[in-house]
Amino acid sequence: MLEKRYYFQEIEDVVLLNLNNLLFEVFERRIQKKYQSGLVMGFWHGRWQSQKIGWHQKTYNDLLLKYWPKINAVEESNVLVPLCGKSLDMIWLAKQGYTVVGLEIVQQAVETFFAENQLEFDTVEIGKHRKFSSQPFTIFLGDVLDLNAGIIQADAWYDRAALVAIEPSNREDYVKQIRKQTKSGAVGLLITFAYPQEQMQGPPFALHDDDVKSLFSDGFEVECLEKIDLEDEKERGLTNVTSSVFKIRRFNDCIED
Ligand SMILES: C[S@@+](CC[C@H](N)C(=O)[O-])C[C@H]1O[C@@H](n2cnc3c(N)ncnc32)[C@H](O)[C@@H]1O
Repeated sequence: MLEKRYYFQEIEDVVLLNLNNLLFEVFERRIQKKYQSGLVMGFWHGRWQSQKIGWHQKTYNDLLLKYWPKINAVEESNVLVPLCGKSLDMIWLAKQGYTVVGLEIVQQAVETFFAENQLEFDTVEIGKHRKFSSQPFTIFLGDVLDLNAGIIQADAWYDRAALVAIEPSNREDYVKQIRKQTKSGAVGLLITFAYPQEQMQGPPFALHDDDVKSLFSDGFEVECLEKIDLEDEKERGLTNVTSSVFKIRRFNDCIED
């Protein structure tokens, strides 16, 4: 009888210990996530504040102009532009008749976009985000990964310098977010940037064609439209630099994760 009690006590202790470890792990992961997102925010705020925004293009992106007409996005529909910065590509999309929904973490970027394009805007708080609107543009200010599912419901999306700007450990969550914010059948245009990752610390992080195929392997159809060999970027110490253009189509309704 006594032995039996000891035996149960031991099991109880083990269960308690495991539970404690589990709680600790969950707590640690939460702290890590918060810390990481703080770092991400700090990094991008710094870049905008010091105007080190070398990715920003003063003309429309030539690959957008060449390939957007080929992906058959529904006319006059809603296009999601994740990590939009103050990209002029949003202006081009609007000129084609689309409504444009951007996602951006730095307020200065959002305000500059509206100011430089002489657009007055309204704002409203939605969950953890602030929504800036000036038809046909809406930009959600906040972390792309934090936007609640289904808020946008876009018919198409355009990713230039977005997935490559995301920490590789967050890429799967980013793809889940694309799925959550687009309609079934939505099409996307993705422009990548790749180089041997050991040559530079991102961002931009190297995104190889195989990474794209594996990230979008569940519920998406992926087609590479063009692969371009870019010149070596000697000042950044990069060789074997390439850029690929993908058409990506969400083809089924997935159960929410
Ligand atoms: C490399 S820039 C590209 C901007 C734009 N796509 C373009 O082509 O000009 C990446 C942008 O994403 C924003 N960003 C970075 N991490 C983000 C996040 N987790 N959520 C939303 N925006 C983010 C940055 O502030 C920056 O403006």
